[in-house]
Amino acid sequence: MKMKEAIKLTNVTMQSLVLCPFLVVVEDESHKTGANVIAVSYVGVLSERPPIIGIAVRPGRYSHGLLKKNREFTLNLPTSELLKDLDYCGTFSGKKIDKVLVRSLRLESADKVKAPMIKNSPINLECRITRVMHLSKKGSSHDYFIADVLRAHRVKDFSLEEADLIVTANYDYRLVGNNLGRAFKIWKK
Ligand SMILES: Cc1cc2nc3c(=O)[nH]c(=O)nc-3n(C[C@H](O)[C@H](O)[C@H](O)COP(=O)(O)O)c2cc1C
Repeated sequence: MKMKEAIKLTNVTMQSLVLCPFLVVVEDESHKTGANVIAVSYVGVLSERPPIIGIAVRPGRYSHGLLKKNREFTLNLPTSELLKDLDYCGTFSGKKIDKVLVRSLRLESADKVKAPMIKNSPINLECRITRVMHLSKKGSSHDYFIADVLRAHRVKDFSLEEADLIVTANYDYRLVGNNLGRAFKIWKK
């Protein structure tokens, strides 16, 4: 392996990590469709039991205000079928446009939260925000929304092994590739 060098940490460095983007849907009464959608890669699992997740959203995003107001959202897993919608929702702001309308996104009602879910996303989580870490008040770029996962939905027979899952690496979208073996087991081989 080559020698390592210390590098300057910038926004770009953080976004160069391998990240798994999701579509976050927030209720938005100002839109005809009743929802706004944002692409979010900064997603963390904080607890399995009870299930708790966190999403980091910049204060400047239109969705930031909606998240603070509604305190609910759905987290929707994109597959390659939704790639262009994901990119569009991560490029344009819902402040002036109804992204759901422009992209003809199909929504369906959630059970426990008012925010709808994306119909052709194979996994949807219904989330209620319990805490907001206002990191931006201390100069950080993003605030962190911590949420309980109240309900999860998965398309029947959906197989994570066969799905066209997307990651981003250094700003490029990539499909998750070869299965290298099971976690907690591969070390034995
Ligand atoms: C793949 C991808 C991932 C993104 N991840 C995040 C993220 O984790 N947090 C964030 O604040 N913005 C993220 N963005 C940027 C927002 O999705 C983008 O600024 C969006 O237009 C905001 O929409 P809004 O103004 O309607 O809320 C991401 C964009 C893309 C394309």
